[in-house]
Amino acid sequence: MHTHRFLVTGGQKLEGQIRVSGSKNAALPIIAASLLTNEPVTLTNIPDIADIATMEHILHFLGVETDFDGKKMVINAKAVANLEIEHELVSKLRASILFLGPLLARNKEVRLAFPGGCVIGKRPIDAHLLALKELGAEVIEDGEVVHLIADRLKGAKFTMSEASVTATENAIMAAVLAEGETVIRLAASEPHVQDLCNFLNSMGAKIDGIGNHKLKIKGVKKLHGTKYRVTSDYLEAGTLVIAAAITGGTVDILDIDPSHLDIFWQKLREVGVIFELGEDMVRVLPSPELRAIRLQTAVFPSFPTDLQAPFTALLSQAKGTSFIFETLFDGRLQYLYELEKMGLDPKILNPYQAEITGPTKLQGAAVASCDLRAGAAVVLAALAAEGQTEISNIYYIDRGYAHLDEKLNSIGAKIERIK
Ligand code: EPZ
Repeated sequence: MHTHRFLVTGGQKLEGQIRVSGSKNAALPIIAASLLTNEPVTLTNIPDIADIATMEHILHFLGVETDFDGKKMVINAKAVANLEIEHELVSKLRASILFLGPLLARNKEVRLAFPGGCVIGKRPIDAHLLALKELGAEVIEDGEVVHLIADRLKGAKFTMSEASVTATENAIMAAVLAEGETVIRLAASEPHVQDLCNFLNSMGAKIDGIGNHKLKIKGVKKLHGTKYRVTSDYLEAGTLVIAAAITGGTVDILDIDPSHLDIFWQKLREVGVIFELGEDMVRVLPSPELRAIRLQTAVFPSFPTDLQAPFTALLSQAKGTSFIFETLFDGRLQYLYELEKMGLDPKILNPYQAEITGPTKLQGAAVASCDLRAGAAVVLAALAAEGQTEISNIYYIDRGYAHLDEKLNSIGAKIERIK
């Protein structure tokens, strides 16, 4: 499947309506957190993507039964084997790091062959280990394996070493069954961290401060089973909004939570994109002219790093020079070299900052997806480009977007999936 490619014919205005799928970055920690109870857990609105399949594979490896129909997943963690999760499984999915917290709380031990996954930037796991040590875990140094034990996890007051999303999620999953109260400062507060907290509270956990950078967790003895609908994917929603705007179409995007994208709507207004927000939808309309802006990413509620590349594709069509500042990752501007092949003339100032000047008439070319969101960015550029664009490494895109080609084709795009 690594040879799969997209062939995109640009120039089609997108028209119609599409529904956003469930959030990948909420479903992944919630599936891991299902190991915190031996009662059945039913999850709905699970996205049908490769990362979910890999998570399911790891659950089976641990002897956990699951039943997934592409939307609803039932998880029965009656027993969870205390096995080292092998490198082959972990290297496919960086998010397998999310088993540290739950397995420590469930089995009092966890062994994980060092995570591989995304190539973007250096992704240390120190933030995870520091937080879990605060809660009483002992880190055993043995080579490539991340090995933690904890006879008993005890509540603690501590500050994360950085507002890391998955490190915060691991700390929360270890704290909900720890003895006593935990206070986590500098906690990440992204919509998927909030969704994990709401899921855990539906199992009987006691988490306060959801949505803030300070969480208070009262440890409980046991968590019970639950039925939970995973929140919709605001990163997919943002990507689809840009697809509509970059083609000058009129598109309704359904099943969104607008409160997840406040800064995104703000930046769209600054650029001059015309849109109308509903309760759980957004209508994107043709925009007369787009203007260059300054775009800086940071942790929630600032502009999400995962929408930086897609948004910059839109800025290639904006009049003037835009300034891009990716403050979180040092490998997330690579896609600009792909857009350069399509006619953009980026000025990359350093690994974090770049300037692009528009509007640029993009031409179809042969380009690659450097990572999940960079792949989305080249798809968006290809929709607006003249002629055909061939995009390779689209397995990155399939990891995080559920049937992106089919969704876009259903509103008038011309994307062919070549095997
Ligand atoms: C999560 O990864 C997401 N993955 C990533 O989504 C996302 O890009 C990332 O958060 C940032 O939002 C999942 O949720 C499964 P981090 P994670 O630890 O937890 C630096 C996608 O595209 N940083 O939050 O591994 C940090 O050092 C994937 O869906 C700061 O500098 O990311 C690291 O280099 C890819 N200061 C980077 O940001 C901070 O305060 C990401 O950190 C916090 C983080």
